[in-house]
Amino acid sequence: MTCLILIGMMGAGKTTVGRELAKRRRMRFADCDHEIVARTGVTIPTIFEIEGEDGFRRREAQALDELTLESDLVLATGGGVVLDAGNRALLSQRGIVIYLNVPPQILWERTRHDRNRPLLRVENPRQRIEELHRVRDPLYREVADLVVDGGRGNPGAMVRQIEKALA
Ligand code: S3P
Repeated sequence: MTCLILIGMMGAGKTTVGRELAKRRRMRFADCDHEIVARTGVTIPTIFEIEGEDGFRRREAQALDELTLESDLVLATGGGVVLDAGNRALLSQRGIVIYLNVPPQILWERTRHDRNRPLLRVENPRQRIEELHRVRDPLYREVADLVVDGGRGNPGAMVRQIEKALA
């Protein structure tokens, strides 16, 4: 089977849902951000500090290009992967793209104490999440084969919706 690719905002549950989905479907799981951290040996905030967001995006595009060549893989991507037109084209071609759509309020509740997401290290992270969601939601929809309504963001419920749609 081709790659199942999970997209959506920070805090949407891509990693949790991806792991469970992979387990149930007996597929390998990979996470783009974890792959970048493993390759560089430093954290995402450190990459942003040293190379800026542009440097991180270059590494993200490279990791995406390599990982999506695998079959029988469930891949969780970083929330900003859809910003790049090249990535969007690649996503559409390389797998079944699943958008986990979770309301900004819940995304904020989930990420508010997290120090590992440089884009949320701002004075008003709640507003930042709303802005990012507004800009990105149409881009996620543009490439998605399936939009999963995250409701209150329950991972189990999202996995069940995906399984039903793929059956
Ligand atoms: C980002 C999301 C993060 C990570 C980086 C940038 C974004 O991944 O790639 O901090 O632009 O939304 P998660 O979506 O897994 O948090």
